[in-house]
Amino acid sequence: MNILVTGGAGYIGSHTCVELLNAGHNVVVLDNLCNSSEKCLDAVRSLTGKDFPFYKVDLLDYDATNRVFEENKIDSVIHFAGLKAVGESVKIPLRYYHNNITGTLNLVDIMEKHNVYNIVFSSSATVYGMPKTVPITEDFPLSTTNPYGSTKLMIENILQDVYTANNKWSITLLRYFNPIGAHKSGTMGEDPKGIPNNLLPYVAQVAVGKLEKIHVFGNDYPTVDGTGVRDYIHVVDLAIGHLKSIEIKTGESGVHIYNLGTGNGYSVLQIIHAFEKACGKTLPYQIDPRRPGDIAECYANAKKAEKELGWKAERGIDEMCEDSWRWQSTHPDGFNS
Ligand code: NAD
Ligand code: WQD
Repeated sequence: MNILVTGGAGYIGSHTCVELLNAGHNVVVLDNLCNSSEKCLDAVRSLTGKDFPFYKVDLLDYDATNRVFEENKIDSVIHFAGLKAVGESVKIPLRYYHNNITGTLNLVDIMEKHNVYNIVFSSSATVYGMPKTVPITEDFPLSTTNPYGSTKLMIENILQDVYTANNKWSITLLRYFNPIGAHKSGTMGEDPKGIPNNLLPYVAQVAVGKLEKIHVFGNDYPTVDGTGVRDYIHVVDLAIGHLKSIEIKTGESGVHIYNLGTGNGYSVLQIIHAFEKACGKTLPYQIDPRRPGDIAECYANAKKAEKELGWKAERGIDEMCEDSWRWQSTHPDGFNS
């Protein structure tokens, strides 16, 4: 299959390209590199031994995006491209709405023009807002607590409407939980710009000596040890989830929705201890107040993906931390190391 991967130079997109290429598919990558490096695509090429076209194109540029479809025969699109920092989205909401929503509107419009009706969209567990119970199934009520999350939910709704208007579409909405880890080779991984917002890259940068200590946001939640519990999923498992989705759902009319998580929750302190084991160091941390907007517990029921896609996350928390550490310790400054 010929697959256009928007945001393919990013963290999850690049790991997905590796799995797609290794499975024998052809990829075309579109990315404006606003949060990624072209060096990541060199790593994809050297890991797979395969070449592919890369377009440094912004989805907001309609004509340039259209040219990608004119120059390549595309069967299916995996749409990762988007801005993803929750805190930043609160400060600059219009940039988030414009980039994520207008970018998607352009993409879908151009797809229709070229008779490409298969899309897999990167949604997020953030569309469940503040879930009343866990584990979360796909039919839980949807709501959001910040502009980033709202863009995800709006795009889900837009894609539902696109399908209602034209049943030729095959739309797959993948709701990811908390992706961490890195490729086993240590040549690719998460490369956040500036100080990381998410727990794992923050812990990894403390371990490598770039940051002084971990700030644990609250230890008075009703959880196993009082700290927040999340469903961390290895980025390679997530990438394989995309491969399965594209192979099974392409051409199947409808809107298909799946949680991609492990079904297991780990607390902040459990993550810190797993990372200490992986890096062989004791990591300094302090307990800070709760972070506004955080929930106590969030983890998936991922049975639907297992049943319908034949996909199940296989990599455990120790492997996630070991692989993150291999990448971080050999690339303390990410792709600029
Ligand atoms: P990332 O920032 O590493 O990758 C996103 C890529 O999209 C980047 O390479 C960026 O340069 C590109 N991009 C952004 N706007 C663009 C535009 N207008 N035109 C072209 N390229 C553009 O992020 P990621 O962690 O790989 O996330 C991929 C997708 O998964 C995002 O849509 C994100 O919202 C979603 N998601 C991520 C997480 C997570 O915790 N990482 C969780 C759930 C969902
Ligand atoms: C995990 C846990 C924090 C940092 C976010 C987005 C979500 C999705 C994934 C895209 C929480 C605690 C964190 C720190 C800490 N992204 N923490 N110290 O908030 O579950 O999800 O990323 O769709 O939309 O909201 O992930 O990694 O920020 O936090 O104690 O320095 O770690 O309180 O309990 P979160 P996270």
